[in-house]
Amino acid sequence: MSEIRVYSEVEKLYDALAQSILSLALAAVQAKGRFSFALAGGGTPRPLYARLGEPQLAEQFPWAKTHFFWGDERAVPPQDRASNYRMVQETLLQNVPVPPENCHRVPAELDPRLAAFNYEETLRLHFQGPWPQLDLVLLGMGEDGHTASLFPHSAGLFESQRWFIANQIPHQGDWRLTLTFPAINAASVVYILVSGEEKADRVREVLNGPYQPEENPVQSVRPQEGRLVWHLDHAAAQDYLERKR
Ligand code: 6PG
Repeated sequence: MSEIRVYSEVEKLYDALAQSILSLALAAVQAKGRFSFALAGGGTPRPLYARLGEPQLAEQFPWAKTHFFWGDERAVPPQDRASNYRMVQETLLQNVPVPPENCHRVPAELDPRLAAFNYEETLRLHFQGPWPQLDLVLLGMGEDGHTASLFPHSAGLFESQRWFIANQIPHQGDWRLTLTFPAINAASVVYILVSGEEKADRVREVLNGPYQPEENPVQSVRPQEGRLVWHLDHAAAQDYLERKR
C-alpha cells in the first residue's frame, strides 16, 4: 500500500515529515521499547534532520531509545565531506542526546566488501529473523531514479539474500554501501522524500510511467507488509500532478 503526500512548499514538507517521524518513534518505543530508523543520505534530508534537533521536537523525541542506522553510505571515512555519517552528525547527532552506542555507523573506511559484511553483522545483531524489521527507512531519490545506493543497471538491484551490500555505480566505478531491496521492503514504514523541480520529470515517470525497476530502481521499493509514503513538495510533484488531471 502506498500513499503520496504533496506539500505546497518544502518548508511545510519538512515540518510535517519531522512530526510524522516523531509520532512513529513514540509509537515504536511504546510498543517495543525502541525505535530503529535507517537514515537517508544526500542533500534533501539535511533540513529535516535539523528540524528533528530543534527544541520543540527534540524535547519530545525518545533519543535514548532510538537506534540510528544508515540506509546507505559512500565508501569514505567518517570525516570525509561526502560521508552521510558526517552529514547526519553535523545536522542532527551533535545536537541531541542519542547514546553513541545507538548510532550504528557504517565502517565505510574499510574495503567496501568488508564494510558491507561488517555492517550486515551489525544489523543481524540488532534484528532477529530473516530480514531487518526497521521501524522506518527514510529514502531519497536521485534524478536518475536511484534510491539508497541502488543505481540503474547496477548489480545490487538483483540481490535477494543479503541485507547490506557494496554496490558499484555503473560507468563510474565508485563503490557505495547500501541496504538491499529485500531489507528495505521488510520495514514497517518507508518514507521517500523528494523535493525540487529538477526531479519532477523522474517523479512523473516513476509514479505514472511503466514499471521498469532497472531504469528506475526506486520503483522496487514495495514494502512486503509495511507502508510506503512519498513526501513530495509541489516542485517535485508538478509533472506527476499535471498528468493526473
Ligand atoms: C546518497 C543517498 C542517495 C540520495 C539521492 C538523492 O548517499 O546520496 O542516499 O540515495 O538519497 O541521491 O540525493 P539528494 O537528496 O542530494 O538529491
